[in-house]
Amino acid sequence: MAFTIAIDGPAAAGKGTIGRALAAHFGFAHLDTGLLYRATGRRMLTGLDPVEAAQSLRAEDLDADDLRTPDVSQAASRVAAIPEVRQALLDFQRAFARRAGGAVLDGRDIGTVICPEAEVKLYVTAADAERARRRHVELTGKGHDVTLEEVAQDLRDRDARDSARATAPLKPAEDAVLLDTSEMTIEEATARAIAIVTAAQG
Ligand code: CDP
Ligand code: CDP
Repeated sequence: MAFTIAIDGPAAAGKGTIGRALAAHFGFAHLDTGLLYRATGRRMLTGLDPVEAAQSLRAEDLDADDLRTPDVSQAASRVAAIPEVRQALLDFQRAFARRAGGAVLDGRDIGTVICPEAEVKLYVTAADAERARRRHVELTGKGHDVTLEEVAQDLRDRDARDSARATAPLKPAEDAVLLDTSEMTIEEATARAIAIVTAAQG
């Protein structure tokens, strides 16, 4: 039976971490939809037209090891504002969301556009400085040479662009449960999310 958990929120809020943990706990499949836009943005940086890049995206494009660099993050957020790019990625995400056995998708528009009928919608946030701190720790831990201020600027730019665009802007669905993880450890945030989903399962 299909059961969809939609997770949205600003950059580096913990959406993917919570999404992976929920998928593991409930035995659901997980899709980090940001990877679709990152892979499209990365292909645009190699010279491809962004709409063609999205239309011809293949599974192996999502495995590229440089999808988290700041230039790819910015490119992702720029291609994500193009309606034809979003349209090209829609069917794949909708089919994933309604697959048998349950699915968790995280992104910006999952609860509002991709899967408005999702059984559970979470809107995950954290304070700006905390999100920048976490992403900086993550990137420097993977060997990327970026300053905290550069990471903070990237998040500010993308959140502003993602919230202001006309098509599928970042915003909580009306029926989303807000989860502010500023003061939570990963374990606390995950436990809270599991409790919300368990309650929704009835
Ligand atoms: O998917 P999203 O960009 O929203 O965030 P993420 O990649 O799941 O989390 C960003 C970073 O914050 C990761 O390195 C997580 O391990 C870390 N994190 C944390 O320190 N505390 C939390 N409560 C959640 C995430
Ligand atoms: O991990 P982080 O939160 O930093 O970013 P991401 O989830 O990998 O998404 C990268 C970019 O893709 C975002 O800044 C958005 O512009 C775009 N995106 C989107 O527009 N819609 C989604 N469902 C997912 C990502």
